[in-house]
This record gives sequence, C-alpha cells and structure tokens, in this order.
Amino acid sequence: MNKRVMKRTINISIPYKEFDTIEELEPSDRELLLSAMEAAKNAYAPYSGFKVGAAVRLESDKIVNGTNIENAAFPSGICAEQAALSGASSNYPGDAPLAIALAAISGQELLQEPVSPCGNCRQVIAEEETRNGKSIRIILGSKNKIWVIEKGSDLLPLQFSRNDLPVIPR
Ligand code: THU
Repeated sequence: MNKRVMKRTINISIPYKEFDTIEELEPSDRELLLSAMEAAKNAYAPYSGFKVGAAVRLESDKIVNGTNIENAAFPSGICAEQAALSGASSNYPGDAPLAIALAAISGQELLQEPVSPCGNCRQVIAEEETRNGKSIRIILGSKNKIWVIEKGSDLLPLQFSRNDLPVIPR
C-alpha cells in the first residue's frame, strides 16, 4: 500500500476587482493609471517593442513614474515597476508606496487586456510591503478593462519574504 497519502488540498484564490472604464475608478486610482499610461510612452523597449509604464503613489501623495529600460545585453534590462519603486525609494526614503498602476503600449496602442506584474516584480512589490508594513494597491490598466488588486501579497501567495530569513540585518 502507498503510504504517501496526500492529506489535504488547499486552494488559493486571488481577489480582484474588474472595471470596464477608467472613469469607474476612484479619482486617485484614475490619476495614477493615467500617469502610468503617460509614462509608458517614455519606455525604452527597442527589443520587445513592449513599452511598460508604472506610477507609484506614495504616502505623501507624491507620484513617481518608471518605465522598462531594455538593454542589448538582455538580462540587464529592468522592468517599469522596479524602476518606479527604486526611484521612489531613492528620492523619497521613508515615504511608503501605497499604490502602483501599470499600463503597457505595444505597437503604439494600449494593450487590450491588463498587463500583470512579472514574477520578479511581484517579489519586489511584496518586499516593499513587508519593509514598510503597508500594503500596496495594484491597478492594472488596459484599453478594455482594469483590474484592481488590494495588496501586492495577493499576487504572490506563499511568498518568500525577509521574515523567512533566520537573521534579518538591521
Ligand atoms: N516588463 C515590465 O516592465 N514589467 C513587467 O511586469 C512585465 C515585463 C517589461 C520587461 C521587458 O522590457 C518587456 O516588458 C517585455 O517583457
């Protein structure tokens, strides 16, 4: 008899809200998404042609933008979310990010479906949440619909975090 019996299955679900138009968003989220859409135009994406814009809203209400910046040495490129969060942390230390909006342009057009943060960016967003003890609302924009996720950790279930390290340098 097989002794390795699976005891239980645990399902994880990710809650998010879907909106049909940008007008349906609350004004601060709308402003943030519009900022991300503008930022996407400044992306440097000659290799993928996929221009991503991110806009971070800080606790002070400041907005910091970022874009993807690609590189001929492909792994040297950076994502828009990381550019925006790094810019925010560098220029406004201690001012916690409370929301991040994303939008992407492909072939001069906004995407038809929301662009979702890559795995690396989810990890970076999650660390910002842990670091500041404040959740980050995620607004994923597109031409046809918008998704809002209340916190970054929702996008990274069972995450590895600084709390998993035996010793956290202070
Ligand atoms: N990209 C981002 O900027 N953020 C993401 O979360 C997904 C991917 C960029 C990286 C690369 O420059 C291009 O999109 C295509 O993958």
